[in-house]
Amino acid sequence: MKILGLETSCDETAAAVVLGGAWVLSNVVSSQIALHQAHGGVVPELAAREHITALVPVMDAALREAGISKQEIDAVAVTPGPGLAGSLLVGVNAAKALAYALDRPLVPVNHLEAHVAANWLREKGERAQPPALPAVCLLVSGGHTELMLIERPGSYRLLGRTLDDAAGEAFDKGARLLGLGYPGGPAIQRTAERGNPAAFDLPRARLDQPYDFSFSGLKTALLRLVEPYRLPDEPRPQPAPGLFAEHRPPRFRDDLPLADLAASYQAAIVEALADKTAQAAIELGARSVLLAGGVAANRALREQVATALAARYPEGEAPELRYPPIAYCTDNAAMIAGAAYHALHRGEQAGWDLDIDPRLPLRLQGAVSPS
Ligand code: KG4
Ligand code: ZN
Repeated sequence: MKILGLETSCDETAAAVVLGGAWVLSNVVSSQIALHQAHGGVVPELAAREHITALVPVMDAALREAGISKQEIDAVAVTPGPGLAGSLLVGVNAAKALAYALDRPLVPVNHLEAHVAANWLREKGERAQPPALPAVCLLVSGGHTELMLIERPGSYRLLGRTLDDAAGEAFDKGARLLGLGYPGGPAIQRTAERGNPAAFDLPRARLDQPYDFSFSGLKTALLRLVEPYRLPDEPRPQPAPGLFAEHRPPRFRDDLPLADLAASYQAAIVEALADKTAQAAIELGARSVLLAGGVAANRALREQVATALAARYPEGEAPELRYPPIAYCTDNAAMIAGAAYHALHRGEQAGWDLDIDPRLPLRLQGAVSPS
């Protein structure tokens, strides 16, 4: 079965064809980074309008790359949420029109479940085993930070979540404070490579629940560290050009220890994520540990989770650590098409009245209370 997936929940216009819920035949992403960079973050109206112009060419490219015609698609999958309303509307309407015209099932896929399902994707022809269950999964994206236990595919039990900012948000806000621009995660990772992660002792949140997270104190601590180096903003030209405000990054003295600050900030985020993930794995007897979402692209996080697992298990006994290739961590449509195969087998076909839900939650089976 070949499923065409569409993804337009935020600032990437994406289409992909996935065979049998696992094998990626094509994965095309048109990024809007350049469009939003001048504004220091995603401008929802600009994002939605860019999806309108980019989606059909991206869809055509995905079919071409997969070497199939529209008629060979068995189902059309799309994410109705969570995400930005205007952006979601473009994808859902396009998917609906295509499925209706081709007389194929329309499959709605929760964007967060798709991030998790990216761990089941394979390259064309690859024969790797699916992740062993039960798995502890750390889902870290721009709007979400959730630690969960996966006992069966599609069944998630919540272990903990962030009480304030998501991990991706912490990266993005930190990058903004440091004047590194958007998107923040990759910018911090790049800058941190030249820095010392132990240069600054940033706070680690102490929380009642062992698997919860909190990143807002960290952001405040970073702000205090950079303030003494801050130079006054340049006066804004009047009136501001363009319909949407232009982002003016903060200006700093030349002696700002930028790389050390980025490295210490990144270390504080990834240590909290890695320690709790590894602790949950050993306490709950996980057979594998999965990372998912945009922040799972972060090299320091991947390394730190491996280190945290190695510290807790005798040599050779740690559960397998898995994360998707970077292209399937950040927003993409292969994860939508892959997850749709399993959704369709569970009977999750949408009617023609499918609507978007910008705040669609992850379907959780109930919390696991840590012992
Ligand atoms: O999953 P995603 O692409 O979109 C959402 O569903 O939100 O996640 C986007 C988030 C952003 O906050 C971005 O800064 C972060 O993922 N991100 C990274 C890296 N690449 C993307 N964070 C840290 N290191 C990276 N290399
Ligand atoms: Zn995402």
